[in-house]
Order: sequence, then structure tokens, then C-alpha cells
Amino acid sequence: MDFIGANILSIQQFERGDIDKVFSVADSMKPYAQRQRATRVLDGAILGNMFFEASTRTRVSFGSAFNLLGGAVRETTGFESSALSKGESLYDTARVLSGYSDVICMRHPQEGSVSEFAKASRVPVINGGDGANEHPTQALLDLYTIRHELISKGRQIDGLRIAMIGDLKHGRTVHSLSQLLCLYKNIHVSLVSPKELAMPEYLVEALREAGHTIVISEELTASISQVDIAYSTRIQEERFQTKAEADLYRGRFRLNQSIYTEFCEPNTVIMHPLPRDSRAEANEIDSDLDGNPNLAIFRQADNGVLVRMALFTLVLDVVHLVEKSAYDVPWFSGHRH
Ligand code: CP
Repeated sequence: MDFIGANILSIQQFERGDIDKVFSVADSMKPYAQRQRATRVLDGAILGNMFFEASTRTRVSFGSAFNLLGGAVRETTGFESSALSKGESLYDTARVLSGYSDVICMRHPQEGSVSEFAKASRVPVINGGDGANEHPTQALLDLYTIRHELISKGRQIDGLRIAMIGDLKHGRTVHSLSQLLCLYKNIHVSLVSPKELAMPEYLVEALREAGHTIVISEELTASISQVDIAYSTRIQEERFQTKAEADLYRGRFRLNQSIYTEFCEPNTVIMHPLPRDSRAEANEIDSDLDGNPNLAIFRQADNGVLVRMALFTLVLDVVHLVEKSAYDVPWFSGHRH
């Protein structure tokens, strides 16, 4: 794909070579993300960070990524603090905000809303999650993490064995990740969910058409016994009619240290897009796994900055200029990796 000036709306835009390019640029961003070097390559540029649905990681890591490249960030969070609550259309919002920004990141609860916004925008738009549909930058950082974790174990993405666990119906991260895995070869995918929260059939079909082996199960322990990656997801409470309905599924796929020790291979990596639901009744990924070196959830979140820096530099066509405006940081950098 031609990244320059492109909207990043769906994983379907990417081919395998594009992923290699994003990952290679993301690798080159490490000195900046780790505060060893600073760059002013986007000095004067403005990111419009428009989040109409709750977010911690995606919103702040997009903002941090832009700041680390020397750009400024303007944000709006939630419907109530934007003129959408006064009946303004996405079209008008896009026309206006794109006059204030060089690139826009957007999250919105309606499927297709970010694409609709992008049609009216005068600057590139990056999808930070549109309802239960897609979360393409999460899939990129997930695969970047998978690649990194596998490389350290002498493996590669082709031939990966992965279990996706939890609310696969509403979880947009697993929707985008499944599409991304279709670009690779010989993947073994276990889809572990209650029947009611199964992965949409069109995505299962896409994985099959890519030649991958698919196992569909409601049983956790057998499904995680021979995988490289156990990718857990939260029950997406906000997509259910009532909290009581979501509560029916809580704790069904609990992962803790004793389950890990009994059922997983010693090197199985645990991932989760976060937030993990840490309320007592959620029983998703217990905190007794926090000291397990194979729990990659915070490395995964850190990688969001690298991948989003890569996307900004590719879309705004400054990859070749990053180092030219770089310098060693003059402040005490207590950043621990
Ligand atoms: N993974 C993810 O999208 O997290 P946030 O909802 O905090 O942005």
C-alpha cells in the first residue's frame, strides 16, 4: 500500500510486505520510545485525537507517539464534551476538525463510523476502534508483539499456534488480528468462547480460506495446552444489553498461575489487549501471573507506542527525516524497560 496520506481504517488494507515495513520502522523507533533519543521531526504538526468511547492505552499511546515525534496533540474525549451531543453530524465534525489537524485518530462506538468520518476528513484518519468492528492498530501491535516474543524463542509467525479466548463476538481486537493472520502461513488457531460469543463466521471462513487449521471449543484447558500464544480477551460488557447478560460469561476462561503450570507448555506467552477486568468476579487473568516472565501484556501495551510512531511517520512521510532532527536526551532518563 502507499502509506503517504493514507487513512488506516482496516487490516484488510495491508499486505504482508506492508506489515514488514511497519515493523521495521517500529523497530527503528525504540531509542525514541525508550527516551534515549528525542526527535523534532513532526515539530509544528497537530494530531487530532478524537475518542468518543472510553480508552486508556489507545488514546494515550497515540498521543505519546505523536509527542515523541515532536508534534502536538489536541483531544476531545466522550460525546458529552463534544458538539456531537448537540446533534452535529460526523460529516460536519470531520470537516471542522480536519481543518485543525494534520492527522486524526478516532474511536467511536458505531461500526463503520470511522470510515464515514474519514470520507469527509481533509487529512488522514486512523481507526482507534469502531464499535465491535475493527481495531487495526491494536492488531498491528499484537502481531509485532507476537513476532518479538516468538523470535526470542527461535520461532516465527508462520507456523504459529495461537488460542484466542473469551468474547470473540464483540472483541474487535481479535477480529482485526484474525484478518492479519490470514496474511501468514500454516497457523493453528483455537477459538475458545461460549457459543453465544463465537467469532463471526466470516472471519472463521477467512482463516480457513487462508489455509489455517481452526479448532472451535468452549473448553479452555485443552485449548491452551499446545499453543505458543494464549490471547485472552475481556467480556465486552459495553456491547451487551445489560450487565447481567455479560455477567453470565464472566470467569468462564480464567487464567491463573496454577492453570498455566498444569496445562500450558513452559514457554507459552500470555497476551491480552487490555484492559483486563481485575474486579474479583471477572476472573480473566489473575494477578498471580504478574510475575510470570511469559505474561507479555505490558510489553504488548508498550509496543503500541512503537507501532503508532511507525504509522505516523509512514503516513506523514517523514521516516527518512526522523534521525536528521534527533538528539540525545538532555534530561535524566529514568525510563526502565
Ligand atoms: N487495547 C485497548 O484498546 O485499550 P484501551 O481501550 O484502553 O484503548
